[in-house]
Amino acid sequence: MRGFTVRDGTLHCEDVPLASIARGAGTPAYVYSAGVIRDRFRRLDAALAGAPHRIHYSLKANGSRGVLEVLRAAGCAVDVVSGGELFKAQRAGFAPGEILFGGVGKTERELREAIAADVKLINVESEAELRLLSRLADEMGAVVNVGLRVNPEVDVKNAHHYMATGEKGHKFGIPIGEAEAIGRLAIALPNVSLQALDMHVGSQLDSFDAYREGTARLVDLSLVLRRAGADIRYLDAGGGLPVPYGSEEEPDLAVYGAIVTAAANALGVELLVEPGRFFVAASGLLLTRVLYRKQSGAKSYVICDAGMTELLRPSHYDAFHRIEAVAPRPGKLTADVVGPVCESGDFLALDRELPGVESGDLLAVHTAGAYGYVMSSQYNARPRVAEVMVDGARWAVVTARETYEDLVRNESPTPQWRDA
Ligand code: LLP
Repeated sequence: MRGFTVRDGTLHCEDVPLASIARGAGTPAYVYSAGVIRDRFRRLDAALAGAPHRIHYSLKANGSRGVLEVLRAAGCAVDVVSGGELFKAQRAGFAPGEILFGGVGKTERELREAIAADVKLINVESEAELRLLSRLADEMGAVVNVGLRVNPEVDVKNAHHYMATGEKGHKFGIPIGEAEAIGRLAIALPNVSLQALDMHVGSQLDSFDAYREGTARLVDLSLVLRRAGADIRYLDAGGGLPVPYGSEEEPDLAVYGAIVTAAANALGVELLVEPGRFFVAASGLLLTRVLYRKQSGAKSYVICDAGMTELLRPSHYDAFHRIEAVAPRPGKLTADVVGPVCESGDFLALDRELPGVESGDLLAVHTAGAYGYVMSSQYNARPRVAEVMVDGARWAVVTARETYEDLVRNESPTPQWRDA
């Protein structure tokens, strides 16, 4: 399904003209296609049909209630990495057995919350965390189902270096060389039940070799730990499925599915996967209005009402996002597309070829549904923008635009001073 198409010379999301959304909800706004999210969920689900499996959407990519509703209704579960994400998942109606809890630096409070919530699995990333978890579970009279997030130390190609997580020496996961010993410790500790090995080797992976090699290592280790007494029930292959931002190809889900289902079948366990970007990136765009055009020396600028505060990826990762005029005019220009924030690094695109654009025109910044809104900030006292869901010919604001009041809501004008 194509969520964004030009009809009668103007860009639509499903059957709704983006210009109507801009009129009704204002700009900037994130706009999501429910149909694209559902379609991508169904395609991945079908690709994993070769093994019993559960898809745990990585909520960090986009934790909007509107998005969670669509995915939950489609049959998706979730993966969370903080107490806040756990709270959001529960609020959105996910059952405890549909929640995986991961993260490299869980606090005691977060571990207690995950134990109290009785989540499906807590993915543990170090020996110290495992010991703490067992102690907390003991205090709370619980036995906790755990997975060990193992760093399989595979070569990860083509991920931005900020997004590779499965190579030797990274902060994530338990180094493969220590995993057996920590697995044996998990078997010995009284209040944890070791049920899974987990990996996440990186994001935006466009070669599946890392999945093949990584899952093979997890299978071998699972067999060893099973012989040592672990009740291994799951294999968690992580997230990381790539999404085309420019002219790249969509990933071959059949090939990916064959690799990860074979690994789970080798153990006779349920396969878990944790993709985030795959479901939501292409389902969303950032709708922004051109405020001004400006010439400075040889450079042309298109100054928009959205910038790095709304979409950080271009300035943080040098990420490419395709930009399209909602109602293109004749002509052509090459310009830096920038925001209003007082930083030279505030841009959406550099030296980008665009059709003729004038102030007041709407631009669509594509493939912005993942790691867009969630990484936005209020820098320069900019209220966070609205999020809009489109479903067929209907649309709704699913997250209201923040107000100026929201910018000061948590400040204390009359602080309660305490003595040292
Ligand atoms: N599981 C774990 C343990 C993760 O750390 C991540 C992402 C995922 C699953 C989901 O990965 P995905 O399927 O979305 O690639 N902010 C960056 C991406 C950071 C990803 C962090 N971890 C970006 O804007 O590209």
